[in-house]
This record gives sequence, C-alpha cells and structure tokens, in this order.
Amino acid sequence: MKHLTRRQFAAAAAAAVAGASAPKISPAQAPGAPPAPLPLKFPAGFLWGCATSAYQIEGAATEDGRGASIWDTYTHLPGKTFKGETGDVADDSYHRYKEDVQLLKDLGAAAYRFSVSWPRIFPEGTGKANSQGLAYYERVVDELLENGIAPYVTLFHWDLPEALPGGWRSRGTAQAFADYAAFVAKRLSDRVQHFMTINEFVCFTDLSYKIGLFAPGLKLPAAEVNQIRHHAILAHGLAVQAIRASAKGGTQVGLAENAKIYVPVIETAEHVEAAQRAFREENAAFLTAVMEGKYTDAYLAHTGADAPKVHAGDMAAIGSPLDFVGLNVYQPEYARAAASPGGYRVERRPASFPHMASPWLFIGPEVIYWAVRHVADLWNPAAIYITENGCPGEDRRDAAGDIEDTDRVMFLRNYLTHLHRAAAENYPVRGYFLWSLLDNFEWLDGFGKRFGLHYVDFKTLQRIPKLSASWYRAVIAGNAVA
Ligand code: NOJ
Repeated sequence: MKHLTRRQFAAAAAAAVAGASAPKISPAQAPGAPPAPLPLKFPAGFLWGCATSAYQIEGAATEDGRGASIWDTYTHLPGKTFKGETGDVADDSYHRYKEDVQLLKDLGAAAYRFSVSWPRIFPEGTGKANSQGLAYYERVVDELLENGIAPYVTLFHWDLPEALPGGWRSRGTAQAFADYAAFVAKRLSDRVQHFMTINEFVCFTDLSYKIGLFAPGLKLPAAEVNQIRHHAILAHGLAVQAIRASAKGGTQVGLAENAKIYVPVIETAEHVEAAQRAFREENAAFLTAVMEGKYTDAYLAHTGADAPKVHAGDMAAIGSPLDFVGLNVYQPEYARAAASPGGYRVERRPASFPHMASPWLFIGPEVIYWAVRHVADLWNPAAIYITENGCPGEDRRDAAGDIEDTDRVMFLRNYLTHLHRAAAENYPVRGYFLWSLLDNFEWLDGFGKRFGLHYVDFKTLQRIPKLSASWYRAVIAGNAVA
C-alpha cells in the first residue's frame, strides 16, 4: 500500500518548482532554516500522561473473585523471576488506587493509561462475569474523572486467564478476547473514550511460546508460533469490531504496539527510504498486518510451509480501521540502503552501544521521531500516541531520603526533544504516556528494575517522588521539554 505522504507530496512539489529532482528534506533541516525556538513547545492540547499495567501494579491476586492468570502460575514456578518475586502484592494499587490517582494529579497529568485484568472480569476466561472485578475498574475510572484525568484503557497486557484451554495456541482465545473486550467496553464506554486492545504482540507470542522466557514458557516450532501470532492479531481485529458494536458511539479504539523502529544510519533520502522499508517488513507479522489487512509477500515467502493458516474473513477483521495507533518506544534499530531483495540492511549494534540499566534498553532518542514518522508516512493514521516510553535506573535514596535520578531525566529529555521534532513537523502525534507512574513488577526482573517517576519502598509500599517526577511536572506545566 503506497500513499503519497505529506512529506513526499511536499518534496514532489518542491521538485516541480525547482524543475529538478530535489532531495527529500524536511523544512527543519533546510539550509539556513532558523533553529527551533526554545523552549521546545508542544502543540496546544498535547496530552501528557503516565502508563501502568494490571499485573505489574495491582496485587490483590486472589481477591474479590479474581481468577488466576498465566503470570500468576509462571511467577510461582521456581527460578523464573528475579529472586522468585511475583505480582501477588506488587504496588497494592488495588487498594491504594486513590493515592496513585493523587500522584497523577500532583504531576498535572491529563491522562492515565492502565490495563484491565481479564481474569478479574472473567475468572474462567469466558462465561460468567465477576461483578466485583468490574466494580474495581469502575472505582478507578470514577476516581480519575473526579480528578480531571482521562482514562485510557488497555484490555490485554499479557495476564491471560489460566483457565483458557491452550492459551494463545487456541483460535478460540481470539474470540474469547473479543467477547471480553466487548463486555468491558459496553460497561465502561459511558466514561472511557479510549481503548487499546492489546499491548506488545511479540511479548506474549514469541517471548512466551518461541523463546520460552515469558509465561507460559514454551518453545514451540515455527509453524505453531506463526499460528499463535495470527491468533493474537486476530484477537485484536475481532476485538476492534466487537468494541465498535457494543461501545458508546464515538469510542476511540487503537492498540499499543512495540514495533521494531528503524533509524536511518544517515538521514539522507536513500537511507530514510531503506529504514521505512525495514520498518514495514520487519513488523510484517504484527503492525504491518494490522495496518494493511494482509501479510506481506516477503513474510509469506519467508515463513513458507510454516505460514499461518488463515480463515476467510480473518485478514479483513485484522485490518479493521483504527482511530489511533499507540506506539511503545524504547530502543532503536538501525537500517541502511542495500542491494538486497528488500532494499535495506539492518545494522548490528557495536558492543559499545550505550544502554540504560536494562541491557536491552539501548539509548537512541531519535527512535521516537522515526517511530512516528514511519507510521504516519506509511499508513497516515488519524492520531498517534506514544503509549510507553521510559527507562529503569539504579535508583537509591540518598542521605536526605531523595532519589536524584538524573540518568532518567537525561534519557527522557532527549527522547522528548526528538518527539518534539515530530510534532513540529506536523506529524499527528497527539500524546505521550511515560512508563511508568511508579516502580512496579518488571516481569522476569521482578522488583529489581525500577521504571517509576515515583520510588516504591516494596516493604512499606510508600511512594516517594523522584527528581524525574519534578521534571515531568515541569514538562507538563510548560507543555515543553524541560
Ligand atoms: C513494555 C511493557 O509493556 C511493560 O509491561 C514493561 O514494564 C515495559 N515495557 C518496560 O520493560
């Protein structure tokens, strides 16, 4: 699918005027263009928020009729997580959600992205709903609204009900998810205007069923993994349709995906084009299939006999139009132009490439600009949100009890500077959710990796704002990089 994008249109128009083929450069790079004025202001109405997810913050794992999820089972197996830690208590946000809403309010946040735990709503995955589970999310939503904070609800952030036979190996799980999504949207859409179906496809498909690192910890052959990936995007598509059918008119539906983002090794036309090709192709199993309603020819050729079995109507459902695209943006990948069949080559990172406290979180602030630009140039969605961005640190309380996380501020300031570029070039980026509001259960890393703006003492569950919380408050107050 090839659209003439804003950028290509501008370049073509400039070339026509000049009577020559002008290189595609943005106005911000044009020779002699004045530097952007400081401070780097975002457009009026830009939405600033924070993000969390149910299993990582709620605790109350067996309360009020909640069923078990595959992460409950998995974290209780010996040796799976850092020090054997689990989300049984986590931040206890199930009981302390009012305090957490006040943390958001103190930041001046306009929005909060959190997830609903499927097994709180349907303890068996399907069947009879648990009214106490739904009531909890109604309380959270009401508390947010009373404090002037817009709820952005993720429907699946990996905590699959243990009771569902076969988990994501079963096609039935896709339909079960759509039914659950429709139920929640019907009950909450009088107060919630934005729903994200699914968070980060690769983490509950490949990491869970191919590499075996995440719950349920299986290592299946390629054909089964490709089928699981298909069930995952089918679940998304069926849920989009089911939400539209059951929610209040005007409800906005999207997703939150950690697509691999390719930065051009040098910002010249040939490498920019190669990076865009890499982006489209290397995300063929998930975001590209969702945005285009088909698998790319190269993906089908690559998977060959192991390609997923697709039923009639699946791809149309998968490609259901979205109101917004949510992108979780962390580390960069790099691509260059090459004489390969795809027209690009992915560069390996040198061993010296810098990273934050998690070894996978390579620092490349420009990735956030390219995330927005590739998605907009390829698929032209109405709105893009950064649904996650942030980093862990070795946060420690100093003698005065403060947490001076200058490394996190450095990271965020640089990423926001590049996000500002996307907004300044009129790409449709409408908001930013910082991961995370508070330190929480970081999956295999347990409580050993802290991503929060607020430090959590996991013995007392006390929340303490870090330097980065003050920094983010200044960003929000000024609607500008601080
Ligand atoms: C992405 C995931 O959505 C979230 O659950 C996780 O904690 C952060 N990245 C940081 O790894």
